[in-house]
Amino acid sequence: MEHALVVGTGAVAQALVPALTARGVAVALRSRSPERAARLAAATGTSVQEGALRGGTLLLAVPDRALAEVAQASAANGDAPDVALHLSGFHDAAVLQPLADAGVATGFAHPLGSFPSGGPPIPTRLTWCCGGATPAAAEAAMRLVQVLEGRPLPLGPGPHAKAAYHAAASLVAGGSAALLQLAEELAGPEVQEPEALRQGLCDLLASMLANARATGPAAALTGPAARGDEAVVAGHLEVMGTEAAQVYRSLLEPMRRMAAARAEAESSGRPGAE
Ligand SMILES: NC(=O)c1ccc[n+]([C@@H]2O[C@H](COP(=O)([O-])OP(=O)(O)OC[C@H]3O[C@@H](n4cnc5c(N)ncnc54)[C@H](OP(=O)(O)O)[C@@H]3O)[C@@H](O)[C@H]2O)c1
Repeated sequence: MEHALVVGTGAVAQALVPALTARGVAVALRSRSPERAARLAAATGTSVQEGALRGGTLLLAVPDRALAEVAQASAANGDAPDVALHLSGFHDAAVLQPLADAGVATGFAHPLGSFPSGGPPIPTRLTWCCGGATPAAAEAAMRLVQVLEGRPLPLGPGPHAKAAYHAAASLVAGGSAALLQLAEELAGPEVQEPEALRQGLCDLLASMLANARATGPAAALTGPAARGDEAVVAGHLEVMGTEAAQVYRSLLEPMRRMAAARAEAESSGRPGAE
């Protein structure tokens, strides 16, 4: 992968461009705003694309809702890259159909990470869900992952594989952030140092994650629902506001199911079963 054009100057572009240039890829930028393109180019030692793209890799780092329109504009602009990849976790290659119609190999490479605007470059060993409309496009997506020293996650053949994968990612990342917010709103007014509470809750989450990474979510489950302490669960619900109680109740069912399956596995001598 020798040269690439990154479209968009948002959060992912800001993380992707320096990661690519650090590995010797010549990157040019395209934006709706010449000022934003010039600013990111100056910050990353890259250039602003003038005119149509010839060869190389086109990377569409634009919001999911803009992908079809940007692909259409790119095809109309006469871009003729070897491959065009988008970075959405939800869409498959079909959203780039206008480019495919123009003879471009189309695919996707979704970095399974959380990238705020102004954050650091994309890290190595990140999981990437990648694929393409054709084997050649899928290989090109894989090459991008290799260049960035990531770990490819191929999807199965199911018709809803990509949507299910992305829903899982959103559930975990957005859901955890929302849980943390609810937890702070619940206990923040009751402690003397809200910042210490935040650190403590994040440490708690991190320790659960370390356990879940090692042994799976069921084995990592702790707390009163897992222990069957129903009086404690009822006591929690009493002090929660409506929204927190609603979320807590909806999570009780999977927690109890996991705990029951774990207990059954332990009693039948199947260690580690979920
Ligand atoms: N952020 C994450 O954590 C994350 C993680 C994994 C994957 N992704 C995926 O990466 C892609 C980009 O996400 P992002 O977080 O970088 O989004 P973003 O911060 O909103 O930035 C996207 C950029 O696209 C350009 N853009 C916005 N609307 C546009 C439009 N209607 N037409 C053309 N260009 C438009 C803008 O750049 P200009 O104004 O310079 O044109 C904007 O800064 C999405 O597919 C997203 O799903 C994001």
